[in-house]
Amino acid sequence: MGGDVRRIVAKGEAGAGRLSRGELEVLLGAEGEEEKALLEAAYRVKCRTVGRKVALRGLVELGNVCSKDCFYCGIRKGNAKVERYRLGVDEVVRMARWAWEKGYGSVVLQGGEIEREENTERVERILRGIREWGGDGFGVTLSLGEQEEEVYRRWREAGAHRYLLRIETSNPALYATLHPAGHDWLRRAGCLRVLRKLGYQTGTGVMWGLPGQTLADLAGDIEFYREMDADMIGMGPFIPHPDTPLGAGRAASPEWAAGQVRLGLRMIAATRLQLHDVNIAATTAMQALDPTGREKALAAGANVMMPNVTDAVWKGKYRLYPGKPCLEETSEACSSCLEMRVRAMGEEIAWGVRGDSPHAREAGRG
Ligand code: 5AD
Ligand code: FES
Repeated sequence: MGGDVRRIVAKGEAGAGRLSRGELEVLLGAEGEEEKALLEAAYRVKCRTVGRKVALRGLVELGNVCSKDCFYCGIRKGNAKVERYRLGVDEVVRMARWAWEKGYGSVVLQGGEIEREENTERVERILRGIREWGGDGFGVTLSLGEQEEEVYRRWREAGAHRYLLRIETSNPALYATLHPAGHDWLRRAGCLRVLRKLGYQTGTGVMWGLPGQTLADLAGDIEFYREMDADMIGMGPFIPHPDTPLGAGRAASPEWAAGQVRLGLRMIAATRLQLHDVNIAATTAMQALDPTGREKALAAGANVMMPNVTDAVWKGKYRLYPGKPCLEETSEACSSCLEMRVRAMGEEIAWGVRGDSPHAREAGRG
């Protein structure tokens, strides 16, 4: 199949949405020179469609209280070792304001999943507080898990215009092995449809390198992104967390980390060849496995970075996976560091703009 890679890469580079699941699977297994050709083609597509500018979202981690018990996640309800915290409305608005003043075009408010009226209102107050000075020009993304349609609607009305909800894996049978009973793949997929219907710019994504996951599953994930008409993709490597059922006893050797990064770069590149005009994040989990993981992701077709703007005192408590970088760094330090890194690879940061994906703009979402 090897010789096929170049033909499939050329096909993907020429037109969006044309690759079959089988072809995507071949790309995900590419090695050596062909792997290199895949990443280079994805970079060319990115330059052509979204440009050589990196859009920034300041990430605020609202709190690590969570009602879910996902087998892989460090802040799962069942992990008694976590010291739980929840930021106040004013604190969150202040951190978002810092990002805005710094020239970040948008923020992502992320936290554990809580389905309670009191929390719904708290988020509404945060959104209104940000809108007071941010207006429409400042992007606000929520990443707060599965919620009822009414809750999504209220948050949209209060000023959120993007929502990130990873499907984690597009394979419902694999999903079932990663979650306890009651965590429902169909509900999650349904939430994505509702978000789109409500006019949110909608983002989804998966983890790669999950136990039991195949390249065919990952190819299916890229198909899922297309079927869902996603505007943004945020995906990352699975990193075993020792205090979780799925992570306990799973060693994370340097070889394993290097393999995860390489697989991830192919996943990002194949996604870019299939979805030319979406936003793709160079995620922090890539940086956790490789100090230059995010830059490598940018060079493989990603175009968004999400530096953490949560105060350093809280950052350490929001630990989904081990090895989270920059725990000691202030938001200021991360911001300068990031700018330097982006410049070093010949790209620019798109300061002061919301950074909507061309895909979302064309669909009139957000
Ligand atoms: N490794 C990598 N990513 C993880 N996430 C949760 N736990 C882990 C882990 N152990 C990711 C999930 C979730 C996102 C917020 O963090 O994909 O959607
Ligand atoms: Fe945090 Fe570089 S991104 S110090």
